[in-house]
Amino acid sequence: MLYIAADHAGYPLKEELKKFLAEGGYEVIDLGADQLDLADDYPDYAQKLVKEVLENEDSGGVLICGTGQGMCIAANRFEGVRAAFIYDEFTARSAAEHLDANAVCLGARVTDAELAKKIVKIWLDTEFSGEERHRRRLEKIEEIAE
Ligand code: RB5
Repeated sequence: MLYIAADHAGYPLKEELKKFLAEGGYEVIDLGADQLDLADDYPDYAQKLVKEVLENEDSGGVLICGTGQGMCIAANRFEGVRAAFIYDEFTARSAAEHLDANAVCLGARVTDAELAKKIVKIWLDTEFSGEERHRRRLEKIEEIAE
């Protein structure tokens, strides 16, 4: 299952990305925003999405705000969330291969729609490598979570 959510800055990109992913055969659940509301706040959508990702095994999430950074900071406050900010092909691939990211964050004000589609697809199509060094590092992240 794939969840997607955005604040007002990410709303237009969310709509476009959602359509692209649905056309590509992904089952996408849109957790809002349902409309452009300049007063909405990205932490509300980050929280909504990560709760679903944590409750549903083998699911993932795409979070979009203006920079992608606010969503990432908010999402990573939740234990078990590995939200990665992606902005090119390399960071998208590494997010899956090295970080086993269960969420990715995009900045609609820094990444155009075509690149966003391409890199989200890379993240979705790439498997976690499972290499010991990556597992060890991810375990260390869990250990330092307070
Ligand atoms: C909203 O204007 C903006 O601050 C937000 O979308 C995001 O860029 C934060 O990281």
